[in-house]
Amino acid sequence: MVIQEIEDLLNEGREKAGYSEKLSITFSNMPKLCDFQCNGCFSLAKKIGGNPFDVAEKIVKNIPQNDDFIFEVAKPAFINIKLTDKKLENLGNEFLNDEMGGVQKHQKSQKVILDYGGANVAKALHIGHLRSPIIGESLKRLYKFLGDEVISDAHLGDWGLQMGLTELQLYNDGILDYYFTGKGEEPIITLDLLNEAYPKASLRKNNDEDFKNQADDWTLKIQNKEEPYFTIYKKIRQVSVEQIKKHYSELGAEFDLWYGESDADAYIDKALKIIEDKGLTRVSDGAVIVDVAEEGENIPLPKSSPDEVQRYKNPMPPAILKKYNGGVLYATTDIATILMRNETIKNVDRIEYIVDGRQKNHFTQVFRVCKKAGISPENQQLIHIGFGTMTGKDGKPFKTRSGDTIKLEDIINLLIDKASEKLKANNAPVSRETALKIGVAAMKFGDLSNSVVKDYVFDIDKFLSFEGKTGPYLQYTVVRINSILNRCNDKAGKFFINSDEEREIIKSILKLNSAYEICYQEKSLNALCSATYDLASNFSTFYNNHNVINESNSQIKQSYISLLNLVKKELSTALYVLGIDIPEKM
Ligand code: ARG
Repeated sequence: MVIQEIEDLLNEGREKAGYSEKLSITFSNMPKLCDFQCNGCFSLAKKIGGNPFDVAEKIVKNIPQNDDFIFEVAKPAFINIKLTDKKLENLGNEFLNDEMGGVQKHQKSQKVILDYGGANVAKALHIGHLRSPIIGESLKRLYKFLGDEVISDAHLGDWGLQMGLTELQLYNDGILDYYFTGKGEEPIITLDLLNEAYPKASLRKNNDEDFKNQADDWTLKIQNKEEPYFTIYKKIRQVSVEQIKKHYSELGAEFDLWYGESDADAYIDKALKIIEDKGLTRVSDGAVIVDVAEEGENIPLPKSSPDEVQRYKNPMPPAILKKYNGGVLYATTDIATILMRNETIKNVDRIEYIVDGRQKNHFTQVFRVCKKAGISPENQQLIHIGFGTMTGKDGKPFKTRSGDTIKLEDIINLLIDKASEKLKANNAPVSRETALKIGVAAMKFGDLSNSVVKDYVFDIDKFLSFEGKTGPYLQYTVVRINSILNRCNDKAGKFFINSDEEREIIKSILKLNSAYEICYQEKSLNALCSATYDLASNFSTFYNNHNVINESNSQIKQSYISLLNLVKKELSTALYVLGIDIPEKM
């Protein structure tokens, strides 16, 4: 790795100069001046009471002669480092032949379970379900690329109140009679029926206490696998899961495991017993709960009147594992799922959840219970990667004009329509497949180029632009390189530096290559998005200033072709990690 090579030389100079504090470098703040910089001479000089500039000079004088890097002292006491053309050329040729394109794999691989997706059975997927598969899929690809062993689990929401609500609504609408009376024909439960039933029931439960209690009761019957409730549940689940799979596949999210909350059912009793045996539970108003508040946090007291507002700086309610009626909840299935994962998949180093940031308390509760009870081993990391909200231009959660939540299906269709228009305007062949690839790329890049934790504005027209920092622009750059390569008949040859534009390209590849590690540490892909864009835009500058196809000097032309191959390789890898497919034409 270049950074390591530079730091080794730098520290050799420092040691010879007689200083003991290790130095490190960063990418340059002033790329026009140098490629990397070392700011460490200030603190080094302070420690020994010397003059920083002199310290820097002494170090640089002691760095061994080499053909790869130029070290210079700049006022007040920076060490600036430039890569020589020879080094840049070598790097270019090296990256071309390296399987990882110059990216460093981790020496130690970790076993990671990634929990993302989280679609709820019986409810139509909506805009709120977009970020999890987008971010999750990309983190999965990143972790794998850097050497982790990753197991992805869709963890469908299929064991909660929505099941009872939906069934009860369908029953009230007279659709489920067959199952209760055995008379007539078995109904076909369609997606349309479900899409209608759940919202209706969900609305009603808010103002109708009896209905809500009845739905609780139905949910419990499903959880207890009572008939015909359980059979109906399985039908609903099946119809719904088919639809969820279709949507996830359109979004390019692939899962190793398609488990749901219901799969943890077999582990619930065991998990509860472990927790009870540790003496962690108490009963409150008939519910089984575990206190998880730590010092500085408060356990909110039950409100004495519905209007009373309880204000706490750090509220941390107890985890509720069983309701008054014996039904289990979201926290229960998540805890049992951790037990299941640790029993069925051994030696898991990390379990990461890519779930809305507003579920922070839920995960804190679940993780604390699992750690206290020993359901998650001490050395296992449980991490909630909480993402921000996608908002409209007004900064409020993105909604339709009438104020409804936007269905995922509608967003996908909108993206396809808008991308098709763009293709038409570009005189490119229009197909649903290509339009989907472009639309999804637009949305993904628009999402991932923001820090995961932040809210961001969903601006479909901006995201879909073929110019600027967008997914389609990056796709277009690769499509363009492919078309140039197709038109060049020459072979690729040794790459060498012929102009400033080539220097910039290799440097931006260096930045791109180090972005993977930054993203790994930050658990956010924005650094990769920026570095990918910088490479693409440096490539455009190169291409505008050099006539690759008509270059008459064959050595130069062959070097260009290698450069194109290299840029294509680096961009394709980055786009793959970002979950973006490259269309054939656009
Ligand atoms: N189904 C949940 C929801 O819609 C998300 C599930 C996230 N994963 C988890 N293990 N809790 O809010």
